[in-house]
Amino acid sequence: MNHQYHSIYRAHTNIALIKYWGKRDQELYLPMTSSLSLTLESLYTDTKVLFSPNLKNDTFTLNYQKQSQEETKKIIRFVDLFRKESGIHLPVSIESINHVPTAAGLASSASAFAALSAAINDALQLNFSSEKLSTFSRQGSGSSTRSLFGGLAMWHRGYGHHSDSSYAEEIDSADWDIGMLIVVINSQQKKISSRIGMQHTIESSPFYELWPREVEQDLDQMLQAIKQRDIDAMGRIAEHNAMKMHATMLAANPSFNYFEPKTLVAINKVQQMRDQGLSCYYTMDAGPNVKILCPFSQIEQIKKILMEDFNEDQLIISLPGRAPYSIDSLGQPLETR
Ligand code: ADP
Ligand code: DP6
Repeated sequence: MNHQYHSIYRAHTNIALIKYWGKRDQELYLPMTSSLSLTLESLYTDTKVLFSPNLKNDTFTLNYQKQSQEETKKIIRFVDLFRKESGIHLPVSIESINHVPTAAGLASSASAFAALSAAINDALQLNFSSEKLSTFSRQGSGSSTRSLFGGLAMWHRGYGHHSDSSYAEEIDSADWDIGMLIVVINSQQKKISSRIGMQHTIESSPFYELWPREVEQDLDQMLQAIKQRDIDAMGRIAEHNAMKMHATMLAANPSFNYFEPKTLVAINKVQQMRDQGLSCYYTMDAGPNVKILCPFSQIEQIKKILMEDFNEDQLIISLPGRAPYSIDSLGQPLETR
């Protein structure tokens, strides 16, 4: 039989309001803590997969460039999880385009593995629920679990070494007045990946032992704040949670950090805008870029003030994004599927 399997999917990135920082099981990518994020409309990845007997070997292109053997091996190890599950062992061609800077702390790995998982699920007709799919995508990149959902999503820590217990789900559709403004301070590839950074922190930071308890408390409060749609409480909790995560890195040995001078300019500006009565709060990941949580209705005003210090092309505004969806080769959604 000469059957081919193909699909194209778009998945949006997400930015954590309660961060994931550390694995308790490095084989299964089980996290030390649960985490929670907002999916973003403006930043996404499109991924096309084709499984075919006519292909000679597995190939992977990212932004039209053939990837190194090492990168390809990493991704094929991931595809193998699905091959094993489906019993379809055909060679695969993967073509991915990031509409988000790669490896710059803007969560390209989240949209990347969510798009790839969703495309494979569709191509191989696995019909996994998004929750089940998240237990696979987790093994490509932890943060991608949350990008399988729109709005506000939570990735559960789970228990023991049970892969199925650590899945993500949507907790709020975020179809109310909420948005995010991203200040792109540097979109170059960072020197220390999240994966390496979190592991080094676990191994050497005396502050890390405080982290799981802090996350648990922050998460409880965050869920309450979301229920009440209290964006100020959400912002305060997210800001504190992010800075506690960065504190664990500062205390690592050797210490490392993702701050650049302009990161502090953005953070100080957010504090000033808040003093002026705007509802805006910052968060930051494994990169120098600053993400500002605010009501979408205030985002243009906030952007205007930030333009005193940043160029317009450094400021990306976003509404909450939706769950992954299939697209045609021109990038148009296939709503009917
Ligand atoms: P980021 O902050 O961008 O998520 P990470 O260091 O966490 O940075 O992840 C970046 C890595 O994710 C890349 O080095 C690459 O291995 C992988 N990645 C990024 N985009 C894609 C993609 N579209 N398809 C497959 N893998 C990708
Ligand atoms: C700081 O999901 O990129 O953005 O699971 O090793 O691929 P791996 O790590 P990744 O880490 C994300 C870390 C973070 C916080 C977050 O998104 O929760």
